[in-house]
Amino acid sequence: MNIFKNRTLLLLVISIVVGLVGIFWYISRLQSTLIETMALQGTSLYCDMLQEVRSSYTSEVVVRSQARGVEVTHDYLTKEGAIPLPATFSMLLGKRVGERGDGSSTRLYSEFPFPWRKAEGGPKDDFEREALQYLKQNPTKAYYRIGTFQGRESLRYARADVMRFACIKCHNTHPSSPKTDWKVGDVRGILEVVRPLDVAFIQSKANLRETAALLGVIGISGLLLLGFTISKLKNNSETLKK
Ligand code: HEC
Repeated sequence: MNIFKNRTLLLLVISIVVGLVGIFWYISRLQSTLIETMALQGTSLYCDMLQEVRSSYTSEVVVRSQARGVEVTHDYLTKEGAIPLPATFSMLLGKRVGERGDGSSTRLYSEFPFPWRKAEGGPKDDFEREALQYLKQNPTKAYYRIGTFQGRESLRYARADVMRFACIKCHNTHPSSPKTDWKVGDVRGILEVVRPLDVAFIQSKANLRETAALLGVIGISGLLLLGFTISKLKNNSETLKK
């Protein structure tokens, strides 16, 4: 009888502890999923916006300026009155975003950089090579990874930059073009956005510490209540026995 009682007690204690640990594990998983989902959603929107900025720049500025005889070129700084090409403009935008110093950055690269971009162009690490391979096969999808980048926990998010009808002629006839048999639908390059997540993770760790403390308090009060109830029952049954 006594052994049975002790076992019941042990089981009760174990299930309370297991239950609390389970709740903690679930909340911590929920939080990382939430951070991931939010970061992905935000970065995907940001990518859309960058692509939209370039499209609008092309249709509203480049096309209209060209019609007026303005030169559109990658080395617009050295030519009076010239304006940057859409891709050059995107790269400049990416550079400026990177210079703001919050750790986020963007990059436009491909396997076929123009001659003047040999040094900074092309995939630079495993992630960029894998993104290129994957997106060439799946141009409508996104390729991403969460990991350490330049010493910070970051989301790296890449999307294909696909050749449209408006892009083909120039890329196939430009005297410096490194490849001249582009077709509509080919993946010309990759647009990559890096977004640091360490601030979110630090915040989430602080939240988890609070959650752990709260669960600890709940667990201890539960156990105290259990002990109190059992001793009360024991007393009652002894009184009855007497
Ligand atoms: C008027 C000519 C022209 C048109 C139109 C044009 N491009 Fe380009 N593109 C260039 C030139 C020149 C460069 C090199 C720019 C530089 O390095 O600053 C370039 C660079 C790029 C790059 C970067 C390549 C690398 O590895 O550095 C990508 C990607 C790209 N273009 C995609 C496109 C897409 C997609 C379109 C259509 C939406 C398009 N381009 C339309 C001329 C053009």
